[in-house]
Amino acid sequence: MAEVNVDLPTGAYNIHIIPGEIGEIGRLVAGVGLAGKALVVSDEIVGALYGEVVLKSLKRAGCEAELICVPPGENSKDLAVAMELYTKAVMMGLDRHSPVVALGGGVVGDLAGFVAATYMRGVPFIQIPTTLLAQVDSSVGGKVAVNHPLGKNLIGAFYQPRLVLADINVLNTLPERELSAGLAEVVKYGIIADAALFKYLQDNYVGIKEKDQAVLTKIVSDSCNIKARVVEQDEKESYLRMILNFGHTIGHAVEAATEYSRYKHGEAVAIGMHGAALISYYMGLCSVQTVDSIKELLKAFELPLVARECCADELSGFLNHDKKNVGGLINWVLINNAIGEVVIQSDVPKEVICRVLSELT
Ligand code: NAD
Ligand code: GLY
Repeated sequence: MAEVNVDLPTGAYNIHIIPGEIGEIGRLVAGVGLAGKALVVSDEIVGALYGEVVLKSLKRAGCEAELICVPPGENSKDLAVAMELYTKAVMMGLDRHSPVVALGGGVVGDLAGFVAATYMRGVPFIQIPTTLLAQVDSSVGGKVAVNHPLGKNLIGAFYQPRLVLADINVLNTLPERELSAGLAEVVKYGIIADAALFKYLQDNYVGIKEKDQAVLTKIVSDSCNIKARVVEQDEKESYLRMILNFGHTIGHAVEAATEYSRYKHGEAVAIGMHGAALISYYMGLCSVQTVDSIKELLKAFELPLVARECCADELSGFLNHDKKNVGGLINWVLINNAIGEVVIQSDVPKEVICRVLSELT
């Protein structure tokens, strides 16, 4: 069991990392002073598994809670789906003090968070992340969004939750591939900020794959801690928060080139981290041993290192049009000497990028 505090000028909140606690969500919601009507948003898979226990708990705590389930998958991060949720909120008579509760992975969290940020100019938002990726990344830090046909996450806001409950035990029902995808983000935290976490992952990959409760609790809380400390210093990503995008620059290009269907987000990030490590090596910023240790760890988690179905030119085109580019420049997050330290650089020579993209494809 662990608790991570996120302290921001707009308000502080706690991330509760407690195995078996999902049935206590009502008590936690009451603990932050919320009551009355509540809209629980989930997807059809997660809603069937955990909807009932969450509704019962909220009702025990005096909330008039109702559940709405959207189809699982990225297509639900859509304005039309958000509109259905607004309609449900109006029909239920939700007011400005009524919480919206996200019960699910990153798709549900981003969608429900976007609705919470915009319905009545913002209502309290609660996160119950149920994928590893959502527990270590998307439920923390306040980025909420839906997609536009011309790009992912283009319509969104920074909107922080009032509390996050990460129940490690719900990961028992998570498919292996989803667990691996979340592990890519945990490896990322080790590389950008915590050599000891990276070593822990190397030493404990068997326990992780077997979903050992203590091991998962440790990696989720370490990850949330790292993300919380970064977000506290730079909530709106003016500079430091960019380090959380390690591996995402090439990762986003891989996702776009494969139309968001071939790779899970975390898998594309694994390929992108391999690419960022290679760029760091070719720039003289780290040793080949560092690159190899990253490759080995990603392989141990059954994550891909290359995207052979993509072509380098196509990836290059997507890199140049990434929404995170500033003034036409790509801000590369690169390893700075050793695991645990990174640097942001926009002066990577074109030849280095081409060489790495060729190796990845
Ligand atoms: P997801 O939400 O699509 O969930 C993956 C699948 O797992 C779904 O089919 C879901 O039904 C199922 N599932 C979830 N929890 C389960 C459980 N406990 N047991 C069984 N099945 C379960 O995928 P994701 O990887 O969690 O999230 C991806 C999304 O997150 C993307 O849209 C991405 O853009 C977004 N994201 C947002 C941020 C952020 O900071 N806001 C960060 C990273 C990713
Ligand atoms: N997932 C990157 C961020 O939250 O900034």
